[in-house]
Amino acid sequence: MKRLGVLTSGGDAPGMNAAIRAVTREALARGISVTGFSQGYAGVMESKTIELTARAVGGVIQHGGTMLGSARSQEFCTEAGLERAIKNLQALQIEGLVVIGGNGSQSGAADLSEKGFPVVGVASTIDNDLYGTELCIGVDTALNTAMEAVDRLRVTASSHRKASLVEVMGRNCGYLALMAGLACGAETVVIPEIKTDPDEVVERLKAAFERGKEYAIVVVAEGAEYNGVRLEKYLQSLRHKIGFEIRLTTLGHIQRGGTPGAFDRILASRLGANAADRLIGGECGILIGLTGGELSSASLSDVARKTKIPDVRILELIHRLAQ
Ligand code: F6P
Repeated sequence: MKRLGVLTSGGDAPGMNAAIRAVTREALARGISVTGFSQGYAGVMESKTIELTARAVGGVIQHGGTMLGSARSQEFCTEAGLERAIKNLQALQIEGLVVIGGNGSQSGAADLSEKGFPVVGVASTIDNDLYGTELCIGVDTALNTAMEAVDRLRVTASSHRKASLVEVMGRNCGYLALMAGLACGAETVVIPEIKTDPDEVVERLKAAFERGKEYAIVVVAEGAEYNGVRLEKYLQSLRHKIGFEIRLTTLGHIQRGGTPGAFDRILASRLGANAADRLIGGECGILIGLTGGELSSASLSDVARKTKIPDVRILELIHRLAQ
């Protein structure tokens, strides 16, 4: 192999730059040149490239976002799109591709791989909904960002005896909400994986008020049936029963924009370097992740088009600890 390509795709995640740097420098150390694609698969479709030298990836490890840009390409997902992508990769003399991204991105990687193009994926999404890894790049930083925001909400909520509903991202997965709820001492958490009766939330808030709590935190996953807006509307209609005033804060993209913490920089460096190493060594069709604290790999065909379910027993723990 003389040249490999790298791209970041889907929603950006803090640590993606550290992963690009690691892929690039591992490859360069082995005498392999690296082409970066702008805006994910869209860059492959249009052959929009950046030569990644050691200096080009200097000073990026500490930055959130992705220096390559990211996008979701509809065209790539079609049969014709895939064929065009492979033609472009071959014309650029790229012999293998590292795809840094989450669920949709790794499904695209699996499609490329099925067509015979050598691909290795790097698990990276704040949603942590990818099969084949326990943790993805960006999750830890996004969680810390959500936690810091909730800590601030807690201060103002306690001054005014309010219940703060906080909607977090995660698409169809409740991982971020569950873990943010545990980290922030939430009263309860509403996630897509468990059907929530909004009256149960009312009862929990009412009971917390009657136990003399000065405030309460409810973390809501954006993908839940009762998302932030819907749950707030319901709770406002029963405000007289609950005791607390209700306020909703939607964290949205704030969670994606953080400066990567040490955990994500280390994870991204390890996963990125390992992905390049394995691709150069002739392995492909795999996702590189972290399982049981160790680097792990899973077949892209087993990972594609699935949404991992978080450990919902965490919700029982949250309820037990919210006394
Ligand atoms: O997949 C990452 C994510 O941030 C999800 O949590 C969220 O639902 C989605 O991307 C938002 O996408 P966009 O940035 O395109 O609005």
